[in-house]
Amino acid sequence: MSKEKFLRFPDGFIWGAATSAYQIEGAWNEDGKGPSIWDTFCRIPGKIRNGDTGDVAADHYHRWEEDVEIMAELGLKAYRFSIAWTRIFPEGTGEVNRKGLDFYSRLVDKLLAHGIEPFVNLYHWDLPQALQDKGGWPNRDTVYAFAHYAETVARELGDRVSFWITNNEPFVAAIIGHLTGEHAPGLQDPVAAFAAVHHLLLSHGLAVQAIRASTSRKPEVGIVLNLHPVHPASSSEEDQLAARRLDGVINRMFLDPVFFGKYPEDMMELLGFFFPEIRQGDMETISIPIDFLGINYYTRTVARFDPEFPLIQASQVHPEGNEYSQMWEIYPPGIYEIVMRVWKDYKPASIFITENGVPVPDGVDFDGKVRDERRIRYLHNHLVYLHKAISEGAHVRGYLVWSLLDNFEWAYGYSMRFGLVYVDYPTQKRIIKESGRWYARVIKENGVPCLG
Ligand code: FCB
Repeated sequence: MSKEKFLRFPDGFIWGAATSAYQIEGAWNEDGKGPSIWDTFCRIPGKIRNGDTGDVAADHYHRWEEDVEIMAELGLKAYRFSIAWTRIFPEGTGEVNRKGLDFYSRLVDKLLAHGIEPFVNLYHWDLPQALQDKGGWPNRDTVYAFAHYAETVARELGDRVSFWITNNEPFVAAIIGHLTGEHAPGLQDPVAAFAAVHHLLLSHGLAVQAIRASTSRKPEVGIVLNLHPVHPASSSEEDQLAARRLDGVINRMFLDPVFFGKYPEDMMELLGFFFPEIRQGDMETISIPIDFLGINYYTRTVARFDPEFPLIQASQVHPEGNEYSQMWEIYPPGIYEIVMRVWKDYKPASIFITENGVPVPDGVDFDGKVRDERRIRYLHNHLVYLHKAISEGAHVRGYLVWSLLDNFEWAYGYSMRFGLVYVDYPTQKRIIKESGRWYARVIKENGVPCLG
């Protein structure tokens, strides 16, 4: 008899998986959907690897029923997905597109019928192009359009959905979209970028209010931030200060306003010049108490002093000897470090890990299996460190793998596979990977099998 040992998680721990609309849905112009900034951006030559687009993606818009069946087979307790704003309001504001609401309503019903808790994320980067044409996130009006959209969706789904996420990774939406330009809308303009930071955060606060005012069951509302430790490349004071500045831009610039109602002083000294007008009441709105913080954790950053790098004079290094995936360093202790830091310094009511995962160049073996052992090891090692944080008192209520399915990985197109489920894009056939089978056991046992 096998006496396999498991590292058990707290009773009722919520195991799930996550996706986002643009990355899986496809059907980019069906049933009245309007174009988003990602529909536009993908059409600019050179922006996306191999010229890929999300036009078809994993065709989830047509295969959602099969996908929910797969979730049920895996035993997921929760599924985090995002709503495409442009399916609800093709122009961002104005008339509601009933067909868009119906799609998500059916999805929610089917999830609930399988005992899977929907985590509805309102914004995962696919801003309506019509709003971009009026200035996008740098324009404060977008904030009010978002609040109206949030209210509309909450009124529709709020009788069945308990968990709501306002925004996914405002850092990436603002900085990668408006400063480095690798994501839509592809700007390289610090004034636009920091206006987007403030307006995305403000849109979060207004959406929290809108959701609470428009749902019939008591909602739990949170925001999702991409957080990670920033370590200095050496013990020199210069590198340490550089790491502190990068930490400011990536982590504190979002955590401080949400939890303390103010931007970090060192960041305002450095970057305040670029910020838009902060009106009276804005910071109170941004820091309205939330029910949970969603943390997306993938990697850490190692930083060094770099006098050439504009403004923050810090840049990232990739030391030899560390372990890397196709996209980032693999650093499992970081999930423990960041959870403990947030738990102690910011005292959120509760925490979910809303994304964690790794790209692996998976392929299908002769017998039809996808043996993604590297992903199993990655998830295992991160869960061991998450368990440590929980056992030291951090109130982490759930963990969602990125991602349920292989999907469109933004500027990398389809070259990165993050799924627990393999997608053969030409046929759209789904194959549960070995990691998916492994994760199903984790869920069933409410614990991680100890690796031998
Ligand atoms: C996160 C995004 C998600 C996915 C993963 C790999 O930053 O939220 O959409 O692309 O990275």
